Amino acid sequence: ASAEKGGYEHFMIKEIHEQPKAVKDTMLSRIDADSDTIKLDDIKITKEDLEKFRKIYIVACGTAYHAGLVGKYMIENLAKIPVEVDIASEFRYRNALVDENTLVIIISQSGETLDTLAALKEAKAKGARILSVVNVVGSSIARESHDVLYTWAGPEISVASTKAYTTQLIALYEIALYMADLRGTLSKEEIKTIKDEMMILPEKIEKTLENKEAIQRFAAKYSGVKDVFFLGRGLDSPVAMEGSLKLKELSYIHSDAYAAGELKHGPIALIEKGTIVIAIMAQQGLYEKMLNNVKEVKSRGAYVFAIAKEGHKEVEEISDQVLFIPEVSDLLAPVVAIIPLQLLAYYMAVEKGCDVDKPRNLAKSVTVE
Ligand code: G6P
Repeated sequence: ASAEKGGYEHFMIKEIHEQPKAVKDTMLSRIDADSDTIKLDDIKITKEDLEKFRKIYIVACGTAYHAGLVGKYMIENLAKIPVEVDIASEFRYRNALVDENTLVIIISQSGETLDTLAALKEAKAKGARILSVVNVVGSSIARESHDVLYTWAGPEISVASTKAYTTQLIALYEIALYMADLRGTLSKEEIKTIKDEMMILPEKIEKTLENKEAIQRFAAKYSGVKDVFFLGRGLDSPVAMEGSLKLKELSYIHSDAYAAGELKHGPIALIEKGTIVIAIMAQQGLYEKMLNNVKEVKSRGAYVFAIAKEGHKEVEEISDQVLFIPEVSDLLAPVVAIIPLQLLAYYMAVEKGCDVDKPRNLAKSVTVE
C-alpha cells in the first residue's frame, strides 16, 4: 500500500501534490497556445443550442457543489447566461423550472452519487439537455448524460476530494470559455489572455505547494482549537466554503464559512479573543473590503491567518499570519487559493492523529439516500 502512495504518508497528500499534473491533463488538447479557440470535442452543444438555453442549472453534492459555485460565476461573467447552482438532494425535490430550454450541468467525481444521478434523471425526463463534468470514465452519470466533459484527475482514493475539485474548476472554465466563444461575448484576445494564464496554473499550484512548512507550523500550534471561521468575498467565498468543508471533515474541528459581507449579520457575535479566522483575500477587486473585515475581527480579538497574493503588504500589518500565493487573476484565483486550505485541513488532521484518508462516518461515493 505504501508503494501505491508513491512515498507519501497518505493518499490525500499524494493527490494534493498531483494537482499540477491533473490540471495540465484536464487542459490537454482542449486549451493550447497555438489555437485561438477552445476545443471541446466531447461536447456537441452548438451555437443554436446555446441560444435556446434560457437558463443553466448546475447540480452537484459536496465538493463538486463548491466547484459549481465557481462555475456559475464563470459562466455568468464570461458567457452571460444566467446560472443557478443547486445541491442535488434539494434540486430533485423542489420542482425546479426545467424544460427543453434548460441546460443542466451535473458535476460528480465518481459519477455514482445517488442524489446527483436522481437529479439528472429528473431533469432529463423534463426535457433538459444534460452536460456532465465527471472524473470516472463510463460511470452512471457519464452514461446518462447527453454530453460529458471528463476531468482527467486520475483515480482519487482519499475520501476528501482535492485533485478532482481543481480539475472540476478547470473543466468549468473550459465550458465557460467555450460558451463565450460560441456566443461572441468575449473577443478572441480576451479568450487568449485567459487561456494563456490557465496554462501557467500548474506552475502556480506547484509554487504554492512549496509553502507547506508555514501551514505545518500553524497546524502544530493550533490543532487544538474548537472553531474556525473562513471568510471570503466574490470567488473567494466558495473557496472559503470548500476550505471549511475540508477542515471539518478531516480534523473534526467545527468550522463555518461566510461571505465576509455577512459577518455583521451574525457570525461576528461569535468572534472573541483567540477565535481563528482564515481570511481568503485572493480577489483583487474586493481586497479593500476584505481588509476592513479583517480589521473588524481583529479588533474583537480574532487570530487572523490570511491567504493573500504576493505583493499585498498591508495585510501583513493587520493580520497575525499571512500565506502568500503567486499573482493570479481574480477569475482563476480559486484554483490557487484552495491549495493552502487543502494543506491546512490535511496537517490539522495529521496533527490530531485523525484517519486522514478515511474520515469517520464518510464515504468516497454516497450511493444511498
Ligand atoms: C462524498 C465525498 C465528497 C464528494 C461528494 C460528491 O461526500 O466524500 O468528496 O465531494 O461525495 O461526490 P461526487 O463523486 O458526486 O463528486
